[in-house]
Amino acid sequence: MKVSIIGTGYVGLVTGVCFAEKGHQVVCVDVDKGKVNKINKGIAPIFEKGLEELLQKNIQKNLQVTTDLYNSVLSTDITLIAVGTPYNGIEIDLTYVKEVSRQIGNALKDKANYHVVVVKSTIVPGTTDEVVLSILEEASKKKAGVDFGVGMNPEFLTEGDAVNDFMHPDRIVLGGLDNRTIHAMEELYHCFEGVDLIRTNNKTAEMIKYASNALLATMISFSNELGNLCSAMGNIDIVDVMKGVHMSNYLSPIQPDGDRVVAPITAFLIAGCGFGGSCLPKDIKALISHGKKAGKQMPLLEAVIRINEHQYEQVLSLLNRHFPSLKGIHVTILGLAFKPGTDDMRESPAIPIIRKLLDQGALIKAYDPISKHEAKKIFGDSIEISNDLFESLQNSQAVILVTRWEEFYKIPELLVNIQPQPLFIDGRRMLDKHSIENYQGIGM
Ligand code: UDX
Ligand code: UDX
Repeated sequence: MKVSIIGTGYVGLVTGVCFAEKGHQVVCVDVDKGKVNKINKGIAPIFEKGLEELLQKNIQKNLQVTTDLYNSVLSTDITLIAVGTPYNGIEIDLTYVKEVSRQIGNALKDKANYHVVVVKSTIVPGTTDEVVLSILEEASKKKAGVDFGVGMNPEFLTEGDAVNDFMHPDRIVLGGLDNRTIHAMEELYHCFEGVDLIRTNNKTAEMIKYASNALLATMISFSNELGNLCSAMGNIDIVDVMKGVHMSNYLSPIQPDGDRVVAPITAFLIAGCGFGGSCLPKDIKALISHGKKAGKQMPLLEAVIRINEHQYEQVLSLLNRHFPSLKGIHVTILGLAFKPGTDDMRESPAIPIIRKLLDQGALIKAYDPISKHEAKKIFGDSIEISNDLFESLQNSQAVILVTRWEEFYKIPELLVNIQPQPLFIDGRRMLDKHSIENYQGIGM
């Protein structure tokens, strides 16, 4: 099938590269000329496991990349919208979605054949039918459901594992204005035969995405609230508590052979210093704001966000317990990315932690296997960025672990060679509390 994809962020580019790999003729479009040139040379502008290999394999073959939206729409059968939908502090910011809808509509005006426009970006329920569809009709002077179809196909890509998630989907959600639209989307996803498919309307498709992310965020804040209670009470460790919870038959059922199958959701039922990233925080806030507009308060999700916004403070209070004044104290931050496997620092708890420490006069050294350049953009020269884990631990009075990087399992053996031992604060409860001399952790 001939498909155009508007926006080459991590969702648009992964989608484009993977559909090309699956045999579709793909044109990716972006306004950013620099990005387009880079991608055309086979360089992925973001770090995403396996992406660059697939890009190099398909570029100039099944995959073209251009800034020319108009001709891309004219030369394809279906267009996916994958531009960013940030949260502007009040509500979802639809500027980019509206802008590209208008441009797609302008192209549709000059197109003789039926065309399908599908939104992949995360947008609050109602947006596809009420905003995108209206703009397309207005700009094209054509009728949705007659001259073109409008669909909604949310993405469920986890950063760091996005290529794998795309190639091995757990579900495919196809929202559509009518059967004709859904049929076109089925053809697009024909290469994923056998994967469970949900056919529904656009509004439900939009809501499925929010519901999925809201569940994950709720699980995390739930675990963090309990962890904070454990540390306030003393002599209860949230790690042991959650181990007991995870062993319930609901979460890790015992099979006939006696083995347990551990549900992956247990990874979200662990206390830590809070969730970040480009999706969970912005999506939950956007849904709450959308609910308010519709006259519906969402007290549970409001609490999920409130708990998360304060969660990073837990590591600071552990630190302040040992160092009432941080002026001139050497503190090492381990992990800057919002989670392992990515260089993305958007909404990472490392950011407010470092800011607060700088405010209090601490001297910061930070280490992350891949986010060094991102940290440089945010903090400039106000913190020292180390290139080596062992080096980062030296001459430090306190160490705070923020991201669960695999490499950090080496820390206990590295610390053995360092004297005096720094205070070690495990913001993710990743390491065994008995393996480090001055160990402190969230939720204990
Ligand atoms: C995506 C989804 O779009 C978002 O809704 C979802 O919740 C998370 O993932 P992401 O891929 O991270 O967002 O977006 P971003 O990195 O902002 O990339 C968007 C791309 O679209 C950029 O390269 C930008 O240059 C491009 N763009 C934006 C256009 O080509 N035209 C525009 O008018 C606006
Ligand atoms: C998420 C969803 O998982 C994905 O399906 C959706 O499409 C986009 O949003 P992502 O933002 O890439 O993906 O990251 P995810 O792995 O879900 O982690 C989100 C945040 O939760 C990270 O900051 C992570 O550190 C944090 N987290 C995760 C916890 O704080 N505790 C946990 O137990 C698990």
